[in-house]
This record gives sequence, C-alpha cells and structure tokens, in this order.
Amino acid sequence: MATRMRRPLVIAHRGNSSAAPENTLSAFRSALALDVDGVELDYRHSADGVPVVFHDSTLDRTTNALSLWNQQQLAIADCTLDQLQQLDYGSWFGAAGEFTDEPLATLEAALDLICGAERLAVVERKSGDAQTLAAMLSRKRLEHRVVVMAFDWAFLADCHRLDATLQLVALGDGPLTAERLDTIASTPAKTVGWDCNALDAAAIAVVHQRGWQAWTWTVDDSARMRELSAWGIDAITSNDPARMLAVLAGISGLPD
Ligand code: G3P
Ligand code: CA
Repeated sequence: MATRMRRPLVIAHRGNSSAAPENTLSAFRSALALDVDGVELDYRHSADGVPVVFHDSTLDRTTNALSLWNQQQLAIADCTLDQLQQLDYGSWFGAAGEFTDEPLATLEAALDLICGAERLAVVERKSGDAQTLAAMLSRKRLEHRVVVMAFDWAFLADCHRLDATLQLVALGDGPLTAERLDTIASTPAKTVGWDCNALDAAAIAVVHQRGWQAWTWTVDDSARMRELSAWGIDAITSNDPARMLAVLAGISGLPD
C-alpha cells in the first residue's frame, strides 16, 4: 500500500516579495505564476476607511511619499485612498525602472486577483475593524476562500462573532508556553501562525496535540524549510516561494 505523503502549504509572503515589490499586484502575479498554494498580504485602512494592501504603518520604506510630498514618516492611516493612489509602490524595489508606477493594491483588487486564480488568500489585518472585512468577504462570497490572520487576537474574536465559519490564524512569536497555548485556546483560532525562530519539533507536536494546525513565517533558508517540513509543519510562508517549492520537490518521506 502506498504511503500518503503530506507536504506543507507553500504561502508566498507579501506575494513573491523576493522578485517583485512586496504587497503589490506585481508581487501577487509573480507568486501566482508559481505553484504556490496561497498568497499572504497585509492590509490597513486608509483615512477614509478603505482597506488597502500595505505592511508598514508609515509610507517611507515602500513608496515615493517622501520625495513626492517632502514629509517624513507620514502615516498611511492619515491619507485618503485618493492620496494613496497618487504614490508609486514599486520604484524602491530592484533594478531602476523595473517596477516604476506600480499602483496601490486595494484589498478588494488583491482578493479578486488571488481568489480569481483559485489560490488561498491569506489576509493579515494590520489595522481596521472586523465588520468592514467580514462585510467585504460576504459581499464577494469569499468567506471560505480566505484565511484571516492577526497578531491582535481580539480582532479574531470580532471576526468570529460576525462569521463563525471563517478560518482564523493566531499570529505570535516568542516561546509557545502552556500559558500562551491556553490563551490561544480561548480564541476562535484553530491555527497557530508562529515565528519560525521560536518553533521546534516539540512545539509543533504540542500544537498538533491541541488539535490545531501549525503554520510558520518567514522562512527563506533551504535547510530550515527542510527541517520544519520534516517536523510536520502545516504551512510555510516564504519571501522566496520558488525556493520552497524546489526544496519540497527534493524531499521524500515527509510525515503523514
Ligand atoms: O504571515 C505572518 C507574517 O507575515 C507576520 O509578519 O511583519 O511580515 O507581517 P509580518
Ligand atoms: Ca504579514
């Protein structure tokens, strides 16, 4: 009888962010061109309440806001959608000119792209209320095609109250102590999304014993990818999903 092999899900972190500017439609298209299972993104609300795909709380690192508006450390939460759409989200990345004029991705456009390609959208909320997200997912009928993750576990509880069928991931870092596991048990999350530096075989086993999935971020090193896969991790988020897929292609005998 053939042994069933299970491999971790491959999730592209902020899109294929080693090949294209993070959290942009170009990065998502680049990830979708690979055989990834899902695409992770971060979103925040603009000043006028529109969920937009962006990681940092301020604009300097990944836009041209400073050179365009001559204002340092401008908060994304203080800019309207119209203002944010004036910025370039790609010229900071890679060879000169390759991604110039990369537009802002709204959460809605990102979901259309990722879910339209039949991949899992792994949506990390950085700011914004649960009602807006739940209403968008419901309107677009995407409730079961996304995973919602957050470091703010109260937000996950809010999501669960609005839609008990959402798949929720409790993000965190540091030692996975019994106390922290008990706190996670009091949330509606059935998946633990933990910093890869704090995970070992025993920690993953304990998560599984609780009946949960163990996901991890952000893993770009081949040896670490192999190790976590051998320990039975359920999903790995990587800036370099092509490497992850190549590593998995070379591994046989993963745990069931
Ligand atoms: O997948 C979770 C991971 O993305 C959390 O860290 O800072 O990259 O959003 P960060
Ligand atoms: Ca993230």
